[in-house]
Amino acid sequence: MSEPVSPRDQWSSRWVFVLAATGSAVGLGNIWKFPYIVGENGGGAFVLLYLFCVLFITLPIMMAEVLLGYLGKRDPIDTMAELAHRAGASRRWGVIGLSGVVAGFLILSYYSVIAGWTMAYIGHAAGGDFNGADVAQISGLFDDLLASPWRLLGWHSLFMVLTIAVVARGVRAGLEKALTILMPGLLLLLVALVLYAATTPAFAEGAAFLFKPDFSKLTASAVLVAMGHAFFTLSLGMGAIMIYGSYLPAGSSVARVSLVVALADTVIALLAGLAIFPLVFTHGLEPGQGPGLLFVTLPNAFAQIVGGQVVGCGFFLLMLFAAWSSAISLIEPAVAWMVERFGWSRLKAALVGGVIAWATGLLTVVSFNLAADFHPLGGSLTMFELIDFLTTNVMLPLGGVLIALFAGWRLLPADRIAAMADVPAVVVQLWLWSVRIVAPVAVLLVMVAAIASALQVPMPWE
Ligand code: TRP
Repeated sequence: MSEPVSPRDQWSSRWVFVLAATGSAVGLGNIWKFPYIVGENGGGAFVLLYLFCVLFITLPIMMAEVLLGYLGKRDPIDTMAELAHRAGASRRWGVIGLSGVVAGFLILSYYSVIAGWTMAYIGHAAGGDFNGADVAQISGLFDDLLASPWRLLGWHSLFMVLTIAVVARGVRAGLEKALTILMPGLLLLLVALVLYAATTPAFAEGAAFLFKPDFSKLTASAVLVAMGHAFFTLSLGMGAIMIYGSYLPAGSSVARVSLVVALADTVIALLAGLAIFPLVFTHGLEPGQGPGLLFVTLPNAFAQIVGGQVVGCGFFLLMLFAAWSSAISLIEPAVAWMVERFGWSRLKAALVGGVIAWATGLLTVVSFNLAADFHPLGGSLTMFELIDFLTTNVMLPLGGVLIALFAGWRLLPADRIAAMADVPAVVVQLWLWSVRIVAPVAVLLVMVAAIASALQVPMPWE
């Protein structure tokens, strides 16, 4: 394969890859989104489904994505085109990378708005707004924030500047150092919040909501949401993990690093659920209330504990960092592509990408206020909800399936074998069959079932 046009950055070791990929995976998806979609979809049964999807669908796909990046050593578009060409297939496989770039912009556009909420909340916590506040006052703070397009816009813009700033500096200079300190900090604070939740009267009720499956609450659309989230939370299906894999130093173990990242991501999501649901029930809040769940729940804890002002501040700050390290990976495939394809500087590419995502984010900003009643498809979804739905539940799973099929059927066996030489042969075989058959079939079945149920078409087994 020809040498990449620019000398490429590399992680300083495979542990830095693990850290960066974990930084990408662990984000608002784990702490903000997971609890609220669990709440909306009835609890334990949904959690079980999600775990199932991670284990049998997205973990194998994650290995495929890391593997392709590791072998291709380019941006996702050129990696796919080049690996396909090498295997005698059409360069048009590069389209997968292109749709990933688009998905990345779309996800970042709303991700940045939500990350802005965490910044606003750092301010609330620091200013003592939660101290001694009751449940109604705390909910009021959230409603006021959403009602103001200007405040949302301000924080959204600031977050986008932060993201551009790190991406412009390249993978090593900005990201590596910060992550070594921040990720462990987040874990510690989350554990502390779970311990606090354990002292509240509804801890058992909260834990049961999270872990006791009641399958009567599952719908076909819940299955799609669980599966979509399994892609979203591991940052799969759009090339983020592929580009991170492309910075892996030679001699790394693709299978092992993927396993560690998936495990860390899952543990953090479950801890977030365990911190939040006991408080939801203790304070008589509604678990299915949607995107505001975290922001109206946790401040109730900060209102009551000693030092709540400091803990609250610390929590939202760490959440901001978790969001930051994820946002970077949403735009990195596009930036790497612009740099490697057009020869632009990283700064220029990061600015162009950032402005596109920022402008698209305006659709989400107004979805909570000015355009709250605008439903582009006529149903009940706002623009924010529609963008989230299309990217997470459609684009990522489809992108993931194509990546899996490519790695399973098209990749030169010699490439695959060389990169997986350190794993027992059975594991490689299992992986191969899951990316060839199991994961693609499962994803397509879930999508068909969800579409059929939305259109009210009975399935053969019904
Ligand atoms: N995984 C991150 C989270 O859970 C979000 C994210 C970062 C992402 N990069 C991604 C989602 C790429 C999909 C694709 O918050």
